[in-house]
Amino acid sequence: MKIEISQGDITTTHVDGILVGLCEDSGQLGPATSAVAAVDALLGGAIGTLLDSKGARGKAGEVTVLHTLGRLPCRLVAVCGLGPRSKVTIDGVRDAAAEGSRALRKLGATSMATTLIGAGATGLDDRAVARAIAEGATLGLYSFAKYKLPEVADMERLVIVVRTSGDTSGLQEAVATAVVLSEATNLARDMVNEPANYMTPSRMAEMALDLGSTHGFEVTVLGREEMATLGMGALLGVASGSAEAPKFIRMDYTAAGGDAARIALVGKAITFDSGGISIKPSEGLAEMKDDMAGGAAVIATMSAVARAGAPGNVTGLVPATENLLGSRAYRPGDVLRAMNGKTIEVISTDAEGRLALADAISYAVKEGLAPLVDVATLTGACQVALGKTYSGVFSNNQELADRFLGAAARAGERMWQLPLADEYRELNKSLIADIKNVGNRHGGAITAALFISEFTGDVPWLHVDIAGTSNSAKDNGVIVKGATGVAVRTLYELVRSS
Ligand code: BES
Ligand code: ZN
Ligand code: ZN
Repeated sequence: MKIEISQGDITTTHVDGILVGLCEDSGQLGPATSAVAAVDALLGGAIGTLLDSKGARGKAGEVTVLHTLGRLPCRLVAVCGLGPRSKVTIDGVRDAAAEGSRALRKLGATSMATTLIGAGATGLDDRAVARAIAEGATLGLYSFAKYKLPEVADMERLVIVVRTSGDTSGLQEAVATAVVLSEATNLARDMVNEPANYMTPSRMAEMALDLGSTHGFEVTVLGREEMATLGMGALLGVASGSAEAPKFIRMDYTAAGGDAARIALVGKAITFDSGGISIKPSEGLAEMKDDMAGGAAVIATMSAVARAGAPGNVTGLVPATENLLGSRAYRPGDVLRAMNGKTIEVISTDAEGRLALADAISYAVKEGLAPLVDVATLTGACQVALGKTYSGVFSNNQELADRFLGAAARAGERMWQLPLADEYRELNKSLIADIKNVGNRHGGAITAALFISEFTGDVPWLHVDIAGTSNSAKDNGVIVKGATGVAVRTLYELVRSS
């Protein structure tokens, strides 16, 4: 979709459909100068009538589509609810643009226009609104149509209409950032939506190599033998049940001097998690192709960071493997040795993510990277605790946690910190090894985080559990059914704030 900024009047713009914003304010249209009031006048008071009859209320998330029947150059008007005027936020504008764009596409529109909805009457910054609209449309119109014909035509053009030409270059810059971020999020969605017979560890490595040469970061891919040489016994244990070659993907983006600090982004990439010998029940098993969503987020973030030419140095690390059953598969009761020398008793082969992360984090520590941020579809327990909207955040460093939560808020992603509770550390104690890979029935997201913390040493580290948030069962604002691409925009904001 091409996004343009254009100076003019939305009511005379030649596109298939337009978006106007409507606040939920006791049945009143906005100020007489607002786009919604101008469109209402041209439609003979249709929007006012809708309000009077409670056909539209301006509630957040609500979209009412009107057919103009020749009264405006456009065929369709999507009236997008923004909620009460005093409570309109950038997140709300982003979601409204997503909902409105989808409604227009559903009715066959392939071009659309919008004003800076929500900006005038609410005091929100014009650039932030332009960015939110571009993000909302690009994210909300995402679809994964590789294996079947799309049901509706693609939106080809979005025009953001402004009244004055005053800040065009600032608005254009805001839109460019939005495009980089939402395309990276959609790239992560594509990777996660791919089935596991396509998105193998080798394919993830190939994609990283391609993105590195396109956008400008170095990529190194290690195979089984190199992992063995490095002593990555935990990751190799997980990989042992699959004929599919595991890959350890390292990506280096360098914008600051070679000696400057280098943040590590680590992403769990189990391209299919059957549970291994501790096999999962078959219900919902197809969803376990999503178990590489952390790795996809890291690869996509690297491409966004490089594309935007962000300052700083960033290294992405993605331990990628399948977790399958076979005659060579690792077993419950096995003891594995991680790269940092620690021994791990495997209680469940289904707690494989923390094993893959143990080696990736050990590697990052050995390489002197700091801080460390890992993203992983790690525990069903996190989904039970926080549901499908909030990702769980754990950290051994409150300053880093505060910075990360700030980045998430700016990105518009919901994240919630949970305690890295030292009281529960003993639950991971093993009789025969340094640590075991499962705690007990309770606090499963916390004991998983505590397990990873055993490999970080004193390095500032933060862990994001995206088991609940990596996919969605329904469309909702910028979220569409299927993979969400969660964490890409937050990681990008974190890198930018470093
Ligand atoms: N990949 C799963 C976690 C998961 C669950 C992701 C649901 C998305 C949705 C992870 O590898 C896993 O199986 N974790 C186990 C850990 C348990 C064996 C300690 C779990 O959460 O049940
Ligand atoms: Zn598992
Ligand atoms: Zn898993």
